[in-house]
Amino acid sequence: MRILFLGAPGAGKGTQCKKLSAKLSLAHLSSGDILRDAVKNGTQAGLAAKEFMDQGKLVPDNVLIDLFREKLNDASCKNGFILDGFPRNRAQAESLDLLLGELKANLDRVIDLKTSDDLLEERITGRRVCPNKACNAVFHTKFSKPKKDGICDLCGTELSHRSDDKPELVKQRLAVYHELTSPLIDFYKAKQILVSVNGEGEQEKIFADILETLNQGSHK
Ligand code: AP5
Ligand code: MG
Repeated sequence: MRILFLGAPGAGKGTQCKKLSAKLSLAHLSSGDILRDAVKNGTQAGLAAKEFMDQGKLVPDNVLIDLFREKLNDASCKNGFILDGFPRNRAQAESLDLLLGELKANLDRVIDLKTSDDLLEERITGRRVCPNKACNAVFHTKFSKPKKDGICDLCGTELSHRSDDKPELVKQRLAVYHELTSPLIDFYKAKQILVSVNGEGEQEKIFADILETLNQGSHK
């Protein structure tokens, strides 16, 4: 199965995609995680991306398209994948269509994780992430506490803050989402592969709703 998640910053894309990738044995391609890894490793893509990420702006399209072309051609995606954070504007969505057309691997479902803006700042500023690339688990100081304060439940690494998880950047990231990314809801609605899922409430309930919509089909 080939699935794309849309949703605002902090909507819970990463949280739900991780669960879904484990449940359905699908590759999870998070654009943010891929970019943060590139920045950490000082690659050309990372050097090009850093200044935009630090300002809560979109990284240039060509950087993302090149990265995803490489990832989607990898053998790990042959049995399906979950895209989280890419595409993020119309030009990226059109490039992805071309790329998936070449691979004969069109998207089966697009899940729009719906949340109201008011709850996102608290979700984002309380987020703690595992910096271990092989883990990348996501926690929250209030909503999803690790068993031991500041330590990843899964691999024991010390948790950290994302550098773009500051209140002043959250507003900027949300503005970018509303201007450039949310129009993709209509783009995928027109293709009749979009389903909307309520992203507010208990994580387990949201996950159950996602599984149900994947079993049921589209056009909601
Ligand atoms: P990216 O890393 O993709 O960030 P984002 O889209 O802003 O989304 P987040 O990762 O902040 O939120 P999420 O929806 O994954 O939420 P999570 O599950 O962690 O992108 C970062 C930057 O990279 C961008 O600003 C841009 O610069 C660049 N970039 C990335 N992709 C790009 C692209 N395609 N083009 C150009 N530039 C690009 O959850 C958030 C918190 O809430 C967690 O603490 C979690 O524990 C908690 N939580 C989750 N679910 C619930 C729940 N149901 N109830 C309570 N708390 C919850
Ligand atoms: Mg994320």
